[in-house]
Amino acid sequence: MMHVYKAAPDVDVVTSTATISGFGNLAINAFVIHATEPVLVDTGAVRESEDFMAALRTVIDPADLRWIWLTHTDFDHIGSLHHLLEENERLRVITSFLGVGIMSLAAPLPIDRVHLVNPGQTVDVGDRTLTAVRPPAFDNPITTGLRDERSGIFFSADCFGALLDEVPECVEDLSDAALRTGQVFWATVDSSWLHTVDRAVFASELDRIRRLEPTMILSSHLPAARGSSMERLLDALAAVPDAPPFVGPDQAALEQMLAGITGVTG
Ligand SMILES: [Fe+2]
Ligand SMILES: [Fe+2]
Repeated sequence: MMHVYKAAPDVDVVTSTATISGFGNLAINAFVIHATEPVLVDTGAVRESEDFMAALRTVIDPADLRWIWLTHTDFDHIGSLHHLLEENERLRVITSFLGVGIMSLAAPLPIDRVHLVNPGQTVDVGDRTLTAVRPPAFDNPITTGLRDERSGIFFSADCFGALLDEVPECVEDLSDAALRTGQVFWATVDSSWLHTVDRAVFASELDRIRRLEPTMILSSHLPAARGSSMERLLDALAAVPDAPPFVGPDQAALEQMLAGITGVTG
């Protein structure tokens, strides 16, 4: 079920919750930045496109959007991308060169409607600039987050996501234990390469985010977090390299699960 809520005076969240059996619930967020040239950050999950469009229409007329900031091209981020491009001819997609390349293998982006950014580069959207920021954890080399220089909000893509028992609308409603456990587990799944990083280099990457001094952190897979929660988020991420690596269920486990469901063995 999609629903919408306000994370900041000029930012709406369009969200749904994916239940991952045996592991928890994951928010799947897109964001509308009500700039002079309105921006949609990501476009929901592929299988929820119809519901996503209906929810989006409750916070903005898609014809009024000017930009889609595509953080990366995973299926939980590109759901309504082409639908929106077809519906609104003025809409342009901010992404990286790699994003255009990957999309060309499935559903090419019209090249005259893309706007390429690399980390550190900015895009003017009328009343504010958006700065491209590489988050310290990601599951896809396309990943490009952003900082809204007017509001000070950092949109972190998959980074800081958490698998949770319940998904509230703000991180401040989560206990330290629920947030930390959920965040560490998510990052071991989504950014498993963190187990191999040089700890000092990773610490300096986390410092880079600390120095942004975000007023809020809006992750694709976490309830909205105030800037005052940043240290909780960074602390959890710092624990990931030394956390137990995630090992998914294997074929024997799958057969056991199926037997549990169907009552059939062998
Ligand atoms: Fe992803
Ligand atoms: Fe994602």
